[in-house]
Amino acid sequence: MRAVVYAGDGTVRVDDVAEPTLQDDRDAIVAVRKTAICGSDLHLLDGKTPGMREGGVIGHEFIGKVTQMGDRVIKHYEDTRVLGSFLIACGECAHCAARRFNFCTNRRALGLGTLTGDLDGAQAELVRVPNADLNLRPLAGGLSGLSDEEALFGGDILATGFYGAQLSDIKRDETVVVVGAGPVGLFCALAARRYNPSQVILLDQDPARVAFARDNMGLDAIDVSAIEPQAAVADATAGRMADIAMEAVGHVDAIKSAMKCVRDGGRITVVGVYGAERYELPVGVAWVRGIGLRFAGMANVQAHWDDALLSVAKGEVDPTAAITHRLPLDDAVQGYELFRAREAMKVVLTP
Ligand SMILES: NC(=O)c1ccc[n+]([C@@H]2O[C@H](COP(=O)([O-])OP(=O)(O)OC[C@H]3O[C@@H](n4cnc5c(N)ncnc54)[C@H](O)[C@@H]3O)[C@@H](O)[C@H]2O)c1
Ligand SMILES: [Zn+2]
Ligand SMILES: [Zn+2]
Repeated sequence: MRAVVYAGDGTVRVDDVAEPTLQDDRDAIVAVRKTAICGSDLHLLDGKTPGMREGGVIGHEFIGKVTQMGDRVIKHYEDTRVLGSFLIACGECAHCAARRFNFCTNRRALGLGTLTGDLDGAQAELVRVPNADLNLRPLAGGLSGLSDEEALFGGDILATGFYGAQLSDIKRDETVVVVGAGPVGLFCALAARRYNPSQVILLDQDPARVAFARDNMGLDAIDVSAIEPQAAVADATAGRMADIAMEAVGHVDAIKSAMKCVRDGGRITVVGVYGAERYELPVGVAWVRGIGLRFAGMANVQAHWDDALLSVAKGEVDPTAAITHRLPLDDAVQGYELFRAREAMKVVLTP
């Protein structure tokens, strides 16, 4: 089958690889209909998150149909499309029982390298999904009307936005700032809007990303390439500052910006990924100002994908607005180049 594999030195190639086979009686094999390129794929290529094996299949955002399943798979998948989760949970540990799937004791992830279980990924014609009953979401019932593209991000960045917004505990009429207007920031902002805040303001240093958020997503966004984020938020809130800041960048400068954008006693939710062990933060400032700093960890996809998908089905959120490029899987190398150059917001590949 055709698949996008890690080719070493931060690059990918599309290659012929062996088809996956069932390895456990709770596995399913999914024929992929649509798959997308994620910022985390770039982190892997760039070594920000280590552990991608040369020849390993990459990719973790996908939708498809089950073609084979093990004897202990219970759900009915015949003629039903399924959404896959990037996060592979075991369903048997104490964390899974408490629906904290993101802290599953046996946590793995698809296509994200040896440190997360060395599972082959989903930028391929076929993908093997362990513990299919938990890690696949059939698009049945009220979700059957969703298009592939509408549902596709529910297994990763859309669920991440919903998880981040829920962690932020947003109250009616509060003001929310989202630092970073990449795909994750956009979905954090869309998810935050559902809590009826008075304002949701995205901040980004890249004017093109600010324009995209405004023009394509209908979001309020400010270009902070030439002005201090603190001044921009003060101006937008008549000096009150934000009650909550969601950090959707993954760089310590963005946490520092978030700290400057919230009022005293405000709260910050760190959704961006931090790969190194140590960073320097002004903890004394956070203490004096009573700032709540909450780190999201890996998104709790399986606890939030229903909420995310129902919101799309109700028309509250349109994730397809973030898709800028649609390419055949065989053109994935070009897709990665566009994505890396930030010419693309989201690239969807069809095997
Ligand atoms: N917690 C999770 O499970 C989870 C899931 C998916 C992604 N993520 C993480 O979320 C983060 C964002 O993902 P993405 O795909 O949107 O990334 P991205 O790189 O496409 O977007 C980040 C945006 O932040 C902007 N930016 C950088 N520094 C900034 C600053 N100091 N102030 C304001 N804007 C700044 C960039 O211009 C860019 O537009 C990444 O760290 C990613 O790994 C976390
Ligand atoms: Zn991802
Ligand atoms: Zn578990």
